[in-house]
Amino acid sequence: MQPSSDKSVTSRLKAFADSDRVTKTTNSTNADYPMLRQQLVGLTDGETDRIANLANCSALLWQELSGINWVGFYLLKRNKLVLGPFQGKPACTRIEMGEGVCGTAASMGKAVIVADVHQFPGHIACDVASQSEIVLPLIKEGKLMGVLDIDSPEIDRFDHRDQQGLEELLQVLIPRL
Ligand code: SME
Repeated sequence: MQPSSDKSVTSRLKAFADSDRVTKTTNSTNADYPMLRQQLVGLTDGETDRIANLANCSALLWQELSGINWVGFYLLKRNKLVLGPFQGKPACTRIEMGEGVCGTAASMGKAVIVADVHQFPGHIACDVASQSEIVLPLIKEGKLMGVLDIDSPEIDRFDHRDQQGLEELLQVLIPRL
């Protein structure tokens, strides 16, 4: 992690939190996260290869989550986030710590939910269709390994239930990386 970028990330997040929020009007049905967790256990059981498990996790989420247009992983390599297994359109390959939604979540070591990406300072647009986004850090034994990033073409697609469900899913995945 980069302590030097924490301040700017924190102030940008505060500005974002203070800005007008879009009122929630639509949302895709929440996923059955306990079922997804069971499926992920089955898909990754006995497999120790990191890329294989990340690839199947992104494919599972792509198949089962409604209202998304991108799902995948960025992995921390030499203090940069580098594109890993994903589903969706081709995406930018490298993200600096503290940059965009992914770099912000990675820097803070915390999940970030963005209801409207156009209101998020420094958002990196890989697919112009994306309207909202959730990013969760992958932390194994106290060390940041990367992030899970999910984009949606719907405004305000993700809420705390998605965050909680995805965090539980990552608890299955992370020991298998
Ligand atoms: N929107 C992300 C960049 C990655 S793509 O969405 C796949 C960001 O702002 O970090």
